[in-house]
Amino acid sequence: MINSVIEIVRRASALMKSSDFEIAQKGDIANIVTTSDVAVQEFLCRELETLVPGCGFLCEEEDEHRLDKEYTWIIDPIDGTANYSRGIAQCAICVGLKHHDEMVMGVVYIPYTQELFHAEKGKGAFLNGKPIHVSDRSFSNSIMCTALAVYHKEYAQICSEIIVEAFSQINDIRRFGAAAPELCYVAMGRCELYFEYILSPWDYAAASVILSEAGGMLTDLHGNRLTGITATGVLAANTEENLNRLQHIVQSRI
Ligand code: IPD
Ligand code: CA
Ligand code: CA
Repeated sequence: MINSVIEIVRRASALMKSSDFEIAQKGDIANIVTTSDVAVQEFLCRELETLVPGCGFLCEEEDEHRLDKEYTWIIDPIDGTANYSRGIAQCAICVGLKHHDEMVMGVVYIPYTQELFHAEKGKGAFLNGKPIHVSDRSFSNSIMCTALAVYHKEYAQICSEIIVEAFSQINDIRRFGAAAPELCYVAMGRCELYFEYILSPWDYAAASVILSEAGGMLTDLHGNRLTGITATGVLAANTEENLNRLQHIVQSRI
């Protein structure tokens, strides 16, 4: 089935490449949706339902969620919509599949760099068909992807305190503006750490399978396993030791 999902995601990306999309605001000025987000999501839902008839869906651009099914697709049609709307390459289509309460498959595709990440539980993680693995860099040599809680600016202060403390102990930080590609960068060894104070399930569900299968680990801010269906803070790292050190910094400030 993974090959069918990959093919569907690649076909959906054609809908992202159109340059004549329109932008609407969902909440404050940072929170936007484009006509491409909606078109990609509608296409994915239609096609994925034929692969798993009777499945559930948890998608960003809809109010109703179907969560009581054996299989649930968790979809972010465009992760990094602000980047997309400005022609910045870091934006991705994200499709995850949950079986009961376990994530079993993830596909993250960045059309502008033509990087397609995929993983199935127990079968390893891949970038454009080639196996990927986290790096073995130490904490002090780590690059951390992070953000200041763009849709929850009330947490910007606590996020900055955590980021500044981490920054003082590691190599550097990055704010690429798209959670799923960032988690995939940890999976492939480009970066080592990830911290966001609050993410929606569609931001991390697909990428969580890719990162776990690449040998990395991710938890909520308290060290608990992620379910893939709740809004939560997310910590990720290439190694258990680095995750523990990041967790220690976060725990001392929340
Ligand atoms: C957002 C991006 C951003 C992250 C936010 C996400 P969206 O997703 O991943 O990098 O900081 O937390 O919500 O809204 O562009 O799909
Ligand atoms: Ca997102
Ligand atoms: Ca999105």
